[in-house]
Amino acid sequence: MLIRRPDDIPSSEITPESLYQNRRDFVGTAGALALGAMFAPSVLDAAPLIGQDDKLTSEEDATSYNNYYEFGTDKDEPKDLAKNFRSKPWKIEVAGLVKKPQTYAFEDLFRALSVQDRVYRHRCVEAWSMVIPWQGTPLREVIARCEPLPSAKFVEFTTLYDPARMPGQTRPALPWPYKEALRMDEAMHPLALLATGMYGKALPNQNGAPLKLVVPWKYGFKGIKAIVKIRFTDKMPNTTWGDANPSEYGFYANVNPTVDHPRWSQAKERRIGQLLKVPTLMFNGYAEQVASLYAGMDLRKNY
Ligand code: MTE
Repeated sequence: MLIRRPDDIPSSEITPESLYQNRRDFVGTAGALALGAMFAPSVLDAAPLIGQDDKLTSEEDATSYNNYYEFGTDKDEPKDLAKNFRSKPWKIEVAGLVKKPQTYAFEDLFRALSVQDRVYRHRCVEAWSMVIPWQGTPLREVIARCEPLPSAKFVEFTTLYDPARMPGQTRPALPWPYKEALRMDEAMHPLALLATGMYGKALPNQNGAPLKLVVPWKYGFKGIKAIVKIRFTDKMPNTTWGDANPSEYGFYANVNPTVDHPRWSQAKERRIGQLLKVPTLMFNGYAEQVASLYAGMDLRKNY
């Protein structure tokens, strides 16, 4: 298991991109065996992380077609407008229902935690999708370091608010700062990741450097970027898109082909870089691993 950060790895040790196709197969089949060592077998058994028709999205597409309203509302803007953003040094405040509220340097929060390779489907609420090789730390390892109290039922994440560095924040495109949240059991699920790299490199600015939440069974807007605060609470927090438009964006945001967005169908998705649409899968294809988190819940109501 890797315990180094992606940007500490010498370039000679980084997997060449041409090998990712093989790594993809590895994660899809034999990978279940290797990953089984890290996860409870029931989490990954018989449920490949990616399926047969999943091809890795090109690095060029994944780093030039972005949603990041702090750097513009057009998909091609973040790459350009974020290119001089400095994500070092970086601090993360841990607050709320924890043993000891404190602010960590980025390096200290992740020190000696694992860094793992995960190829995940990435499904945006706008009905496009990608398949991305992330590097990151399981969120539950970071949560353990934060030492939440048993009374904590939700965890909330906040993006940096600094209009001088994030030009989109000078306009009211969204209520700033961007916030997202998970129920504690969702956050503790082994598939939930705090990504610090992709395609074997440190996370690019436009993808949320230095750290982005990745919750592969949920729509992409849950994947908050450039996190500066992690707060534990006993009440369900408000979220940015929920505040901006509550009838369109719910707290759970689980990928669900049977519940349409009020303005479009969610039954199919367009894979960026591919011609034909593909059917959207329940929980983005991770139902086997995560459906039990929502047993007994009305997923039409709790969208
Ligand atoms: N985080 C912040 N801070 N601001 C944003 O505008 N957009 C979200 C999410 N995280 C967003 C954000 C949306 S809508 C999506 S689909 C994903 O980031 C896009 O992530 P990507 O650019 O890495 O594909």
